[in-house]
Amino acid sequence: MPALLAALKATHEVDKYPVLPNHVTREWLLDGDDGMAWVAEDGTDVVGHVAVAETEEDPYSLSVHRLFVRPTARGHGVASALLTTVETYSKLLRQDLFLEVLSHNVDAIRLYESRGWYRAGGYTAVWTGPEGTHPEINLYASPNNDRSHVIRLGAGRPTE
Ligand SMILES: CC(C)(COP(=O)(O)OP(=O)(O)OC[C@H]1O[C@@H](n2cnc3c(N)ncnc32)[C@H](O)[C@@H]1OP(=O)(O)O)[C@@H](O)C(=O)NCCC(=O)NCCS
Repeated sequence: MPALLAALKATHEVDKYPVLPNHVTREWLLDGDDGMAWVAEDGTDVVGHVAVAETEEDPYSLSVHRLFVRPTARGHGVASALLTTVETYSKLLRQDLFLEVLSHNVDAIRLYESRGWYRAGGYTAVWTGPEGTHPEINLYASPNNDRSHVIRLGAGRPTE
């Protein structure tokens, strides 16, 4: 946990992910005990993390949360490997995946789109980010996602 928290802190400082400073906590990392979570290691250290959780919106979909890679470990396929893991997991369960990503997290958006994920919608958060603005949130669906049309948008909860 200390190594994962250190990776989260470094990610927040570089990417504003999570966008709210008070989410850089152990509790935020452990949020969602109804799902699964994975870490990536480079042999000595934790370098990345991803989690999936059941959704209230649709019993046949899982939402992806907390995909991040420590800045010093990027560009070597760590996030791609983590995404492959959750995609394989969801296929085994015959469930589709979706996620929410803030517009300023451009590296993540590029990665999702390069893997065939597509933008299924978006909304403006009702909560206020650290700069006093309401962040733009994009909903992305996994490739061949049959169910993105049933995901309700606009919950506006401060999840990221
Ligand atoms: C988005 C993020 C997770 C990507 O992590 P990463 O480990 O660098 O991702 P990958 O290495 O798998 O892919 C990134 C790039 O490296 C390339 N790459 C993949 N494998 C590679 C390899 N073996 N060698 C070199 N480059 C590689 C990919 O093609 C990709 O290129 P692109 O940026 O031109 O599309 C990371 O930037 C991050 O943590 N961002 C902040 C957190 C965030 O925004 N999370 C979103 C939550 S919704």
